[in-house]
Amino acid sequence: MKDHLVLFMPSGKRGRFPVGTSVLDAARQLGVYVESVCGGRATCGRCQVSVQEGNFAKHGITSADDHLSPVGPKEERYDRVRGLPGGRRLSCSAQILGDLVIDVPQDTVINAQVVRKAADERVFDRNAAIRMCYVEVEEPDMEKPLGDLDRLKAALAQDWHLDELDVDFHLIPKVQQILRKGEWKVTAAIHKDREDDRPRLIALYPGLKNEAYGIACDIGSTTIAMHLSSLLSGRTVASAGTSNPQIRFGEDLMSRVSYVMMNPDGREAMTVAVREALNGLIDKVCAEGGVSRADILDSVFVGNPIMHHLFLGIDPTELGGAPFALAVSGAVQVKSAEIGLPMSEGTRTYLLPCIAGHVGADAAAATLSEGPHRQDEMMLMVDIGTNAEIVLGNSTRVVAASSPTGPAFEGAEISSGQRAAPGAIERVRIDPVTLEPRFRIIGTEQWSDEPGFAEAAMATGVTGICGSAIIEVIAEMYLAGIISEDGVVDGSLMERSPRILQNGRTFSYLLHDGEPRITVTQNDVRAIQLAKAALYAGVKLLMDKQGVDHVDRIGLAGAFGTFIDPKYAMVLGLIPDCDLTKVKAVGNAAGTGARMCLLNRGYRREIEETVTRIEKIETALETKFQEHFVAAMALPNKVDAFPNLATVITLPERRAIADATGDGGRRRRRSRD
Ligand code: FES
Repeated sequence: MKDHLVLFMPSGKRGRFPVGTSVLDAARQLGVYVESVCGGRATCGRCQVSVQEGNFAKHGITSADDHLSPVGPKEERYDRVRGLPGGRRLSCSAQILGDLVIDVPQDTVINAQVVRKAADERVFDRNAAIRMCYVEVEEPDMEKPLGDLDRLKAALAQDWHLDELDVDFHLIPKVQQILRKGEWKVTAAIHKDREDDRPRLIALYPGLKNEAYGIACDIGSTTIAMHLSSLLSGRTVASAGTSNPQIRFGEDLMSRVSYVMMNPDGREAMTVAVREALNGLIDKVCAEGGVSRADILDSVFVGNPIMHHLFLGIDPTELGGAPFALAVSGAVQVKSAEIGLPMSEGTRTYLLPCIAGHVGADAAAATLSEGPHRQDEMMLMVDIGTNAEIVLGNSTRVVAASSPTGPAFEGAEISSGQRAAPGAIERVRIDPVTLEPRFRIIGTEQWSDEPGFAEAAMATGVTGICGSAIIEVIAEMYLAGIISEDGVVDGSLMERSPRILQNGRTFSYLLHDGEPRITVTQNDVRAIQLAKAALYAGVKLLMDKQGVDHVDRIGLAGAFGTFIDPKYAMVLGLIPDCDLTKVKAVGNAAGTGARMCLLNRGYRREIEETVTRIEKIETALETKFQEHFVAAMALPNKVDAFPNLATVITLPERRAIADATGDGGRRRRRSRD
């Protein structure tokens, strides 16, 4: 009998199969991932596909619905009981009768779930480390002395090719009861991470258990973000975040390491604090998603090296100074219950590898998400926190470093700085002629010079300047000529505008004359210059290592990256010159990378391999850091040109103003975070 050509979309994998092959078998043979829990019994509904009808000349395929066998009794029963969306077929039942283009939908929703679409929701190919395998086990027989567990293993070997199955010990005392409860029909949760791992039975359920969940979590030093996803459909069913309670032990990372060094119980206290917060978040996402905690079978965590160590209960003291030795840099696989996160008894936790002692699993996850290592263009990725993690590379070579930017970008060290909250100024424009500002605050749509602003702002007041606006206001001050390229506030402008105020030997700019009075002082400008120069110098070191004088693409990660306007970041010289259309906020890229590893173990292998190839640069040891830093103190930069930026904005003529502060842009090295 003639074989038929079958093309699977979106993977594009294709092959020829004899008439009568089930679509599920064809997919399996080609390595196309199609979920199945019931093992082809047409009861789980996980294996749904649809036919793309038409003439696909490029592939030489004419595809039609009737190139699949007609709906049989099993499929009909499933449709009657559970309902099949229009055009969907069960691939375990539908057989190939002719050439086909088969669509494997990425959103096979079985139970109606409350689906919350996170901003960074992307659909990924699935190949989770957990599989749910339904089997029917032979009943005990006096003639055959094989134990209940052994007959379960035999059934799993026969139906699912799970030979040499390991079994978590906690299940052994429960097997008999579960088998009897399910009347010899059970669903086994099988964990298998690496290809050469033996499969392991980690949970067992009576009857058909047609769902399994996992969590992906980014433990930031300031905030923790968690997503709860279905391991079978890939959907994110709930997301939640909370602030990291370790803040009470120290605002930045270095102070948390100091806390551990000074207090005998410090490490323990911080481990307990973060695990408590994580348990609270697990409860929260479970409540929001209507999911039982015991149904979470896998979890992936990322964090910077100090968060990673404290979470695992490892003393981070070694990370406090050179050579920044990690206790473990490779990926970690552990039972969740062993690290204080009880879910199902067999639930596993996977932590991505750390890149270096100061570039963590969060940067690895962001790399995985944005994929500089997968593209030809030279991509710069910057995650700006109190410590900036920087990755630069392409498919040939990737280098990484961290730069001690300090907390200025988060509003700390800035006289009117504050965290992003209602009432905080988030956008600023300054008229270069009158030097009058207009601004917008979080929670109010109107600009400050528009009708209705005063009434709308009444609820919150105008309370301070958040991180993204600090970038804007200083960039706008520069563009309006209020500060020079050296960052000096021009006191001579007092004659022109009442907004220029004198404070002893220096000057400041009055942004809002209210309660509180919001000004940008000379010290504020200096703090931002120091922070941006540290970041830029780190970027330049990586560009030196790569031997490039420009980058093709920039990804700004994290909350800060989401809210800053790339144009203003470039005016300040925070990031190097680049085509502005290729500068993008990439959101919580670390969280996205964690979710990728949760849903597809192939991504775990990809990042593990990539991290071994990433070259780590220690900025503190590089002699050129200081030189780059000094040049980067200027706006946008003393030596580097910004030709792309110049096409969209006219930068002021270079001019010098006497530096009244006397600190001349002296560099202060900050503590690491
Ligand atoms: Fe379960 Fe097809 S594999 S319905």
